Amino acid sequence: MTLRRRLVLSIVALVVAVSAVIGAGSILALASIQRSAIDQQLQYATSRAQRSVEQQQGGGSPGIDIGRPSGQAAGTLTVYFLNGDVAVGTVLDNDGAVDRIGTDVVRPLGGVTVDGLAHTVDLGGDLGRYRVTAVSLGTAVLVVGLPMAPVYESVWKLLGVVLVVTVLALLVASLVAAVVVRRSLRPLERVAETASAVARMPLERSDALDGVRVPDTDPRTEVGRVGTAFNRMLGHIGNAMQARERSEQKVRQFVADASHELRTPLASVRGYAELTRRMGGDLPPDVVYAMGRIESESLRMTSMVEDLLLLARLDEGREVQFAEVDLTGLVFDAVNDAHAASPAHEIAVEVPDEPVVVPGDAARLHQVIVNLVTNARTHTPDGTRITVGLAPAAGGVDLTVRDDGQGIDPEFLPKLFERFARADSSRSRSAGSTGLGLAIVDAVVQAHGGTVSVASVPGDTVFTVHLPSTRPVVPADVVAATA
Ligand SMILES: Nc1ncnc2c1ncn2[C@@H]1O[C@H](COP(=O)(O)OP(=O)(O)OP(=O)(O)O)[C@@H](O)[C@H]1O
Ligand SMILES: [Mg+2]
Repeated sequence: MTLRRRLVLSIVALVVAVSAVIGAGSILALASIQRSAIDQQLQYATSRAQRSVEQQQGGGSPGIDIGRPSGQAAGTLTVYFLNGDVAVGTVLDNDGAVDRIGTDVVRPLGGVTVDGLAHTVDLGGDLGRYRVTAVSLGTAVLVVGLPMAPVYESVWKLLGVVLVVTVLALLVASLVAAVVVRRSLRPLERVAETASAVARMPLERSDALDGVRVPDTDPRTEVGRVGTAFNRMLGHIGNAMQARERSEQKVRQFVADASHELRTPLASVRGYAELTRRMGGDLPPDVVYAMGRIESESLRMTSMVEDLLLLARLDEGREVQFAEVDLTGLVFDAVNDAHAASPAHEIAVEVPDEPVVVPGDAARLHQVIVNLVTNARTHTPDGTRITVGLAPAAGGVDLTVRDDGQGIDPEFLPKLFERFARADSSRSRSAGSTGLGLAIVDAVVQAHGGTVSVASVPGDTVFTVHLPSTRPVVPADVVAATA
């Protein structure tokens, strides 16, 4: 349940409870006040009736007319018992007329204790409940009663009023509570919105959090304190990200500088080795062999250093110059080179008739195709069939390099695009592989705003590069556009 709903429900429940207590208290008080009033009147009515009967007894009249006393209220019940049996029972109706009541109806009143106190008796029928008092007059007993109906009537009326007022109070309370609670919780909602916005953000760049702040920071309110703490936390995260970015930047810079610096001495080593080999007629064969190894290893190291330098530059977001690139042409170039390098492989091309053009860096995309095709021919046995395809796909172009070689170990697949990742280290290393080829493919494709994926089962390995038909929006462009 939301906090808002819980608060509103609590307030409404409180109003109901308070109304119930007040209502019940009022009703009980009213009932008791009314009953005291009736008892008081009953006392007067009894004295009046008693006096009247005593006068008649004294006057020696043959019958007793108990309906006679004046001043009795409508509904007053008078019963005269003589020798324990009902002599006469009357009730005053609303018009002031004296009505006789059947002896059966009033016989239960013979059981009322003759003590001059008020008792409640249910007479049933039209009469209902009565407060009655019995007094003895020699051998006779006089019972006088007043109806309880008015008490019940006012109690019912009050109950109705209490219910109506409670319902109204409930409506007003829930409306007011909803508005007040909503208004008080709005700052909290803003904090929650900011928090979930931050949670959705890709926090890759340190400036991602710039300007993301909660507006409610009044330290006098609870929500304001939460907002202040939240903003401070965002600041800390931003700083931590900046620090991480700086150290990553340093590492990249170091790799780039180191690779760059290594190129010159490597070129010298290679040059001297080649020179020595050329004039090697009178050198012992094992020295010639050693010089050949130096030359080939320095070549391998040169290409590794070039790859590292390229990766470092791609990481920095440099090294990609966009222009219209004819992918079809690049595919044919790469396949022709592969034919020449591996005549034992069967290499086919499946491209549309019209040239496929995407925005990109021709040299880098050429490298992507070459790396994929080289993998397909160097990591598979002779006779493997390789198919390079180009096809339009949603929002761009799909370049696929498929081979029917032995496939890639499924356990190795998730690490395939990592740097220096090689599935079969011993064999590949002898073949001069470094494990940087697919890392470069991944970095170049990402720099083009595309994606690369692989699916491999024995007999069918497909690398799919998706390149978008529009240039990716790089942060530098965003800054330039908004400036
Ligand atoms: N088509 C393929 N068939 C089988 N295995 C493959 C294929 N493509 C890549 N692999 C495996 O993935 C590994 C990583 O490939 P990647 O191109 O990154 O490095 P590499 O080819 O070993 O070295 P480099 O390309 O840097 O010279 C390879 O060592 C190989 O084990
Ligand atoms: Mg490779």
